[in-house]
Amino acid sequence: MSTAKMIDGKACAAAVKARIKDEAAKMKAETGKVPGLAVVIVGDDPASRIYVNNKRRDCEEVGFVSTEYALDADTKQEDLLALIDKLNADAATDGILVQLPLPKHLDEKSVLYRISPDKDVDAFHPVNVGRIMIGDYRFLPCTPAGVMEMLKYAEISVSGKECVVIGRSNIVGKPMSMLLLHESGTVTICHSRTHNLAEHCRRADILVAAVGVAKLVKGDMVKEGAVVIDVGMNRDENGKLCGDVDFESVATKASYITPVPGGVGPMTRAMLMQNTLTAARLHE
Ligand code: GUN
Repeated sequence: MSTAKMIDGKACAAAVKARIKDEAAKMKAETGKVPGLAVVIVGDDPASRIYVNNKRRDCEEVGFVSTEYALDADTKQEDLLALIDKLNADAATDGILVQLPLPKHLDEKSVLYRISPDKDVDAFHPVNVGRIMIGDYRFLPCTPAGVMEMLKYAEISVSGKECVVIGRSNIVGKPMSMLLLHESGTVTICHSRTHNLAEHCRRADILVAAVGVAKLVKGDMVKEGAVVIDVGMNRDENGKLCGDVDFESVATKASYITPVPGGVGPMTRAMLMQNTLTAARLHE
C-alpha cells in the first residue's frame, strides 16, 4: 500500500508566476509594453466575485495591468457586446475574460464568440478550440494547461500511458483529453453515461477527475501507483470544500495526488496569466 505524494498546486503556480513576472519585466524594459487583462463581470454572483478578485491579485503579482468592468445584472446583450467590441479595438487590452456564468437573459455563446480570437485568454472561441484540436495553440485552455504543467512539475511523463478523463465539458474534459493526446497519452473520456466507470478508472495510469460530483472517485476505483488529478471543486455534506476525489481512500493507492483546495485551482489562475502574456506578445 502506497501513500501518495502531493503535487502542490500553490508551489507550482508560484514558480510559473515568478517566470511570467520576469518575462513581463523584460518585455516592458525592451518594448515599453505592459500586458493588460480586461475582466468583465455581470451581476453579483458571490463565487464569481471571488474569482474576479483573485484574477486582479494575480495580475498585480506578475506586473500586468488589470481592468475590471463590473456590469449590472440586468445589462442588455447589446450593451455587453458593445463593451466587447470596444475592448477588441483597445490597444492596451491584450486579453479579455468574461466571467461565467452570465445571468440567464444573456446569450453566453454569442458573447464569447464576439471576443477577438487574438484576445481570447480563456481559449473558448471556436478558432482557438479548433487550434487546440490540431495542436497549433496560442492560448491554452487554462485548467487543462494547468494540469499539464503540474504533471511536468512533478516530472510525470504522459507518453504511452493510459489516461482516463472523467468529464466531457468544453472547458475541461474535452480540451484536457486533447492535451494528453498531444503528449502521446492513450486517452479514454468517461462521462455520465459511461458503463462501468470504475473499470475504466482502474486501468488509468493518469486519472483526471473533472465531473463536479463530490468524492466520486474512491480508492477501489484507482490502480495502485496511479497519478490522480482532481479538478473538482465541490462542497461535501458538511459544507467543506472538496474535490471529485475521495482524498483519504485514494491517497493510500495513488503514487501522486492533487489536493483540493491548493491543487489545480491555483494553476488555472497561473495559466490565465500565461495566456495574457502570450496575447501581449501577439500584439507587440
Ligand atoms: N467561471 C468558472 N470558470 C471559468 C473560466 O474558466 N472562465 C471564465 N471566463 N469563467 C469561468
